[in-house]
Amino acid sequence: MKPKIIAHGGSRHLGQDEPMRQRAVTDACKEAYEVLLEKSAVDAVEAAIKAMESSEHLNAGVGSYLQIDGTVRMDAAIMKSDLSAGAVLSIEGVEHPISIARRVMETTQHIIISGRLATEFAYCEGFPMYDPRTRPKVEIWLDMMDELRTKTSYEQIFHVDRYLETGKHQLGTVGCVAIDASGAIAAGTSTGGLMKNVPGRVGDSAIIGAGTYCSEHGGVSCTGIGEKILVLSLAKEVVNYLRYEQGVTASEAARHGVEELKSIKAEGGLICIDRGGNMGFAYNTEVMTMHYIE
Ligand code: GLY
Ligand code: GLY
Repeated sequence: MKPKIIAHGGSRHLGQDEPMRQRAVTDACKEAYEVLLEKSAVDAVEAAIKAMESSEHLNAGVGSYLQIDGTVRMDAAIMKSDLSAGAVLSIEGVEHPISIARRVMETTQHIIISGRLATEFAYCEGFPMYDPRTRPKVEIWLDMMDELRTKTSYEQIFHVDRYLETGKHQLGTVGCVAIDASGAIAAGTSTGGLMKNVPGRVGDSAIIGAGTYCSEHGGVSCTGIGEKILVLSLAKEVVNYLRYEQGVTASEAARHGVEELKSIKAEGGLICIDRGGNMGFAYNTEVMTMHYIE
């Protein structure tokens, strides 16, 4: 099998920072492709996502948005085509949530660890403490605090559909899918969530079957408004499409996923690779920052 890799840095409205975002995704994909040539799909997916988590231009790891209490809480998941999977939800105080998700997969008998205890797990496993807040994201949070003073209810503050109406939603989850020379597939996703998270809110990215899924039929990583992707179980929907629809290409499966999003008036995008090594992607936002190498 010819190794292939595809990575995304989130679907969103076009912003001035798009060239920096594109650079971060392209560089991460190139770096990970070198890993893919030497090692396995899961090594490459972790490498790509780690590199993107280190970019302050992408909403994952360093540079994640702050939740309204001023804390960064991140979600990440990784999954392999043999159905092994690991995830962390609402993790704080670490640099690379994707590596901790992988550690959950490889050293525990569980799939998901959440909250402060996920952070404790990371420290016990030897991952260093790290504050992922950056100055620009703290400033965005301070502006948000000013805006929130004028609101009187949770509904006014957090109404998810309003993100879509105003076009102001700040997305930028990162993800990667790869297939290696042995035909093994891996998929992973990492996020700092939405800009106006209720503390403790968990999106789709690290929920197996929603934002991330991988089986022998294919691997998928999604981006978009998590609440919408969750109710569609979108990543699994796309893998099921690959599995049950005769002769579909990865591109058709990706487009099917976006049609599902449209059917509930949602925006987002996804990347996928099928068992034949075909890559696909689709989105219905202005842009989805992405790169692939085959
Ligand atoms: N943070 C939402 C997304 O880009 O997926
Ligand atoms: N798509 C990422 C999130 O909603 O958290």
